[in-house]
Amino acid sequence: MVVKCNSLGLFGLKSYAVEIEADLSRGVAAFEIVGLPDTAVKESRDRVRIAMKNCGFEFPASRLVLNLAPADIKKEGPLYDLPILVAILKAARYITVNTDDCAFIGEVALSGDVRPINGVLPMAIAAKEQGIKKLFVPSHNGNEGAVVKGIEVYPVASIYELVDHLSGRRQIEKAVYVQEISPDLSALDFSQVKGQAEAKRALEIAAAGGHNVLLIGSPGAGKSMLAKRMTGILPAMTFEETIETTKIHSIAGTLKKGAGLVTQRPFRTPHHTVTKIGLSGGGTNPKPGEISLAHNGILFLDELPEFNRSTLEVLRQPLEDGTVSIARATGNYTYPARFMMIAAMNPCPCGFYNHPKKECSCTDTAVRRYLNKVSGPLLDRIDIHIEVPPVEYDDLSRKSGEEESSLIRERVNRARRIQLNRFQDSGILCNAGIDASMFDKVCVLDEKADAMLKKAFDKLNLTARAYDRIMKVARTIADLDQSEIIRAAHISEAIQYRALDRKYWNR
Ligand SMILES: Nc1ncnc2c1ncn2[C@@H]1O[C@H](COP(=O)(O)OP(=O)(O)OP(=O)(O)O)[C@@H](O)[C@H]1O
Ligand SMILES: [Mg+2]
Ligand SMILES: [Zn+2]
Repeated sequence: MVVKCNSLGLFGLKSYAVEIEADLSRGVAAFEIVGLPDTAVKESRDRVRIAMKNCGFEFPASRLVLNLAPADIKKEGPLYDLPILVAILKAARYITVNTDDCAFIGEVALSGDVRPINGVLPMAIAAKEQGIKKLFVPSHNGNEGAVVKGIEVYPVASIYELVDHLSGRRQIEKAVYVQEISPDLSALDFSQVKGQAEAKRALEIAAAGGHNVLLIGSPGAGKSMLAKRMTGILPAMTFEETIETTKIHSIAGTLKKGAGLVTQRPFRTPHHTVTKIGLSGGGTNPKPGEISLAHNGILFLDELPEFNRSTLEVLRQPLEDGTVSIARATGNYTYPARFMMIAAMNPCPCGFYNHPKKECSCTDTAVRRYLNKVSGPLLDRIDIHIEVPPVEYDDLSRKSGEEESSLIRERVNRARRIQLNRFQDSGILCNAGIDASMFDKVCVLDEKADAMLKKAFDKLNLTARAYDRIMKVARTIADLDQSEIIRAAHISEAIQYRALDRKYWNR
């Protein structure tokens, strides 16, 4: 007799239905799993057999064949332990209830406990779409599954519990989504950064328009301190952003234990020794990389020149498209990767090149070699370049008077609302996403601004790319100023944020 049990599979961020069939027939005792199982699924065979024994269920002493359908998709990970076990328990008549409207996902420990797995949120969404009414997940993933409305999610701690529940002896309580208390955002506030008015202003513009930023300054100037406070001035995530971000973290296994939704914008700080795969994603069972984990948030690259130059090259495409594609024998995976990049660096190996008080001890060649570790195309993709000078003593010793992040965030939000109105359903979220072909429509300069840009273009020998950056940043500055027309003051400020290429790279 063939019995069936529903489960789910993952391919990138997408999830699909998997059906497990179990056939128990007379013959020599054997246990086979077919349907393209990977090693984890094969190992599942041993775990399930031992878990059953340890929980006092007798393993069928006849020929048992399991088929995981559809057979043409590779099944990955240990999440099939639970549905395989349910199918066997059904075949052996330990479970007799109809489970057609149920689906099961979870890893099973040898003791019979059910262990947490990755990817529960996308699978719960898919289960609901497939018409599944009840989804059984590991107990630690209950909150995550319960995010999805319109499907009952049961957190399962052990297979005893599950069998008791299905046979009506003792009910497992449905999971109810509980929003976690978010860690205190105010712990990292811009008011703690004394002085640095210009750098703060530039970061406010970056937050308002979603622009990438490069911070250059000597050691201890406060670059890392400033960058770490950026998520506190970005607008709150929309519900869609929250779901998308959580899906990525769910698959990557970076959700905190018992977490439901990621409600704060991610702040990722990969170390400069990160590999290409670590940054962009990949591996045999492709996992999202740092750029996808930073989706809807910030990717902070501290000590930019220390990163391997060819590793950084993987950023180029995602910085343009907001997605990353990973080619694998099993297919092409695409993960979202729309992040704001903040990079920080010293100006030279000793750190004091261009320092107002200290002497740089590097040779000219050493400075050049250091700066050239950052490629032109990457620099070109950063809209705002700022110099962070060492903080002045007077600023540092002042007791109060620095603006709090919440006030900055209000202005950022106001500028973002103008942008949402401007772009509506075009798929663009903020000014950083403006395409040069849209300039005529969305970047209208008054006469003075126009003349100023023309003059700067000739005098400073700007490239077409630099021109594009200046237009976008000027658009954001005008939005912060609540001006639909871009004026000379907006243009001149935007030009300043392109001054460092010349000061450092094209000397
Ligand atoms: N403007 C400031 N207000 C208050 N404290 C500051 C300021 N600037 C620097 N500091 C202090 O100096 C420390 C060093 O700053 P931070 O680590 O951000 O420097 P950095 O520019 O990243 O240096 P490095 O190049 O060495 O990484 C901070 O942790 C903070 O305590
Ligand atoms: Mg630092
Ligand atoms: Zn130096």
